[in-house]
Order: sequence, then C-alpha cells, then structure tokens
Amino acid sequence: MLIERIVLKDFRNYEYQEIFPNKGINIIYGKNAQGKTNILESVFLCSTARSHRTNKDADLIRTLQQGYSVKIEGKRDDEPFSIEINCTKISSRLNKKVIKVNDITLSKTGQLMGVLNSVMFSPEDLTVIKEGPSERRRFLDILISQINTSYFYSLQEYNRIIKQKNALLKRVYETGKNSDLIDVYNIKQAKTGAKIIKERAVFTEQINKKAGHNHFDIANRAEELEIKYSCDIPDYSGEESDFYKSLDKIKDKEIKIQSTIIGPHRDDIEILLNGLNIRDYGSQGQQRSAILSLKFAEMQIIKEKTNKQPVLLLDDALSELDLLRKRKLLNKIDTKQTFITCTEKRRYMTLDDSISFFFVNKGSVKSI
Ligand SMILES: Nc1ncnc2c1ncn2[C@@H]1O[C@H](COP(=O)(O)OP(=O)(O)OP(=O)(O)O)[C@@H](O)[C@H]1O
Ligand SMILES: [Mg+2]
Repeated sequence: MLIERIVLKDFRNYEYQEIFPNKGINIIYGKNAQGKTNILESVFLCSTARSHRTNKDADLIRTLQQGYSVKIEGKRDDEPFSIEINCTKISSRLNKKVIKVNDITLSKTGQLMGVLNSVMFSPEDLTVIKEGPSERRRFLDILISQINTSYFYSLQEYNRIIKQKNALLKRVYETGKNSDLIDVYNIKQAKTGAKIIKERAVFTEQINKKAGHNHFDIANRAEELEIKYSCDIPDYSGEESDFYKSLDKIKDKEIKIQSTIIGPHRDDIEILLNGLNIRDYGSQGQQRSAILSLKFAEMQIIKEKTNKQPVLLLDDALSELDLLRKRKLLNKIDTKQTFITCTEKRRYMTLDDSISFFFVNKGSVKSI
C-alpha cells in the first residue's frame, strides 16, 4: 500500500494543498493547530469513508465553503489506484458525498473498503478504553469492515432494521396495532445480528491473542491483557434461533420502551488487565500501553488477512517516548509507509535516512 499524492481542496483548514509523501516515514511537523492531524484525517477518510474524530461531514468543509474534495493517488501491489471523495453542502443539514475509485463513482460506500487499508494511532484512541461501549464497537467495526466488505453491508443492513423496528415499536405503542409485524423485524434482526456477533467474536479472539502478546512486549511487565466479546443476549449459543427466542420473550418490554434493547448494537468488548476492568483499575500508563497493543493487533490482523501492509498514521502517538523506545516501536511496526505528526522535527532527525519532512504552517505544507 503506497500513497504517492494527496490533494486537499477546501478540506478543514486547507484551501488547496498537494502533498507528495515518500514510501517510508513521513514526518509532518509544526506548531499546534496548523493542520497536521487534518492531513492524517484525510488519509483515514479515503480509507474508511469516515473521519476518525467526527461523524459530521460538515466539520470537514473549510469554513464558509460549499464542499470539500480529497484525492489520493498511489499504488497497490504496483498497480496504480486513485480515490476521490467529494462532499457538497445541499442544505444546512444535508451533504452529498460522492466517492470515486479509479475515476469510477461507487454506488455503495462499502466498495471503498479494502482499497486503501490504514491504521490510525491517535490521542482519541484512549476513548476505546475510557468511554462507553459504542467506542469499542466502533473500533471493532472499522477493523472488520476494512477486511470483510460483507460485514460492512451486514452492519448497514442491521442499522436499517433497528431504525425501522424502533419506528414500528413506537407506532405499536401509540396505536396498539400491528404488533405481529414486530415478528417480521425480529426475524430479520436475529438473522443479520447473528452474523455480526459471529464475526465480532471471531475477531475479538484474534485481537485478544495478538494484543496480549503485544502488551507484554510493550509494557515489558508481567501483566496479562485480555479482550473478550460481551454479548448481552440471554442464553445465546450463537444460533440465530436463540436470538429470535430472546427477542420474542422481551417483545412486550420493547413495545413499552419503544426501543430495541438487545442485540449487537448493545454489545461491548471487555478489556481486562490481570482480570480487572482496565477502565476502572488501569493506570494511565497501563491504559496507554493497552491501547497501543490493541492498535498493533489491528495492524497485524489487517496485514495477515489482506497480505498488504496498511498505511500507518501516527498522530502524536510517539511524542512521549524517548528515541530508543521510538526506534524499538518503529522497528516493531515494520511497515512500509508511515505518517507521523509531531511538533518538533528535531526528535526524528537521527532516526533513519529514509525520512521525509513536511512543515505545516496555517494550512500550508512545505516539503523540507
Ligand atoms: N472546517 C474547518 N475549516 C477551517 N479550519 C478548520 C476546520 N476544521 C478545523 N480547522 C482548523 O484546523 C486547525 C486544526 O488542525 P489540526 O487538528 O490538524 O491541528 P494540528 O496541527 O494537528 O494541531 P495539534 O498539534 O494541536 O494537534 C485549527 O486551526 C482549526 O481551527
Ligand atoms: Mg493534531
């Protein structure tokens, strides 16, 4: 996976910017709030169709402009590829996003998955540990979607089913009619939901093995990191029929609450350190090491499953480490193309010969 050119138009604080990264390590440096993370964000966007820090496309449009455009050109197994995302404001609430791969407009966002694989390490990652279950589900979903397009479609379908079912539950609650129709949705929910849970459980187990190993390496202590998928469906053996039965049992409750209360949209991943919940018992350093271990696991899994090195995006992730640790970590990463943001380039000057430096100042990038 190699990015050769990035073009930003009215994206965040960039009016127009072209960047030509090298195939090794690219250091993007500059003072705070100049646009370093915005560059990494644009790469992540072309990889996953979403930003790593906002769900609102409008945030990505340069202030007072009507839309943004991001284009990435590169090579995949020596074959050239291009990804272009154009987003236009239609109204104050609505934006139209068009994604092109090799100049052909995609009919479904899912078709973008796997074209450009990337892994982002950012300060926001700690939310996976510190925040609620939705952040952990998001972490899993982004990882699996990059590898398995059909998972991405199942997820989209499942979200649609839940939205429609919730609207129906509300109507049934208000009118007392059509409660039989809920069964139709429960069947659909159980079918698609079971697929999602199965994939997530498989991936969680793979992450568990790899992250545990990584954690030992990074923390270099006798700490056991354990990751478990936690499904809230009672008596669930993995069978679609169990899921349906559980939904049937709580049908009246769901009508009363007007909401779907069990299923993969409510599941979580438990992250345990020496058997205890890391969120409540882990120190800052332990939490930071655990998240790095998880992220490394993500990278290793993408590499194994796709046979391609994902592009690495390290947003301020190494700034607290000394040179030796940085080197150890970068060796461990063993990747081809890496983008690192930092405030001081000095720290990286002696790291390697194959480094390119980009100086960012007020939404303008200069290759140094
Ligand atoms: N939609 C937007 N339009 C214009 N400017 C924006 C937009 N969104 C963010 N910005 C500006 O982009 C800058 C922040 O960019 P970014 O997050 O890339 O900073 P950074 O260089 O990574 O800083 P730090 O070192 O603090 O992480 C801020 O000046 C912010 O005001
Ligand atoms: Mg930043």
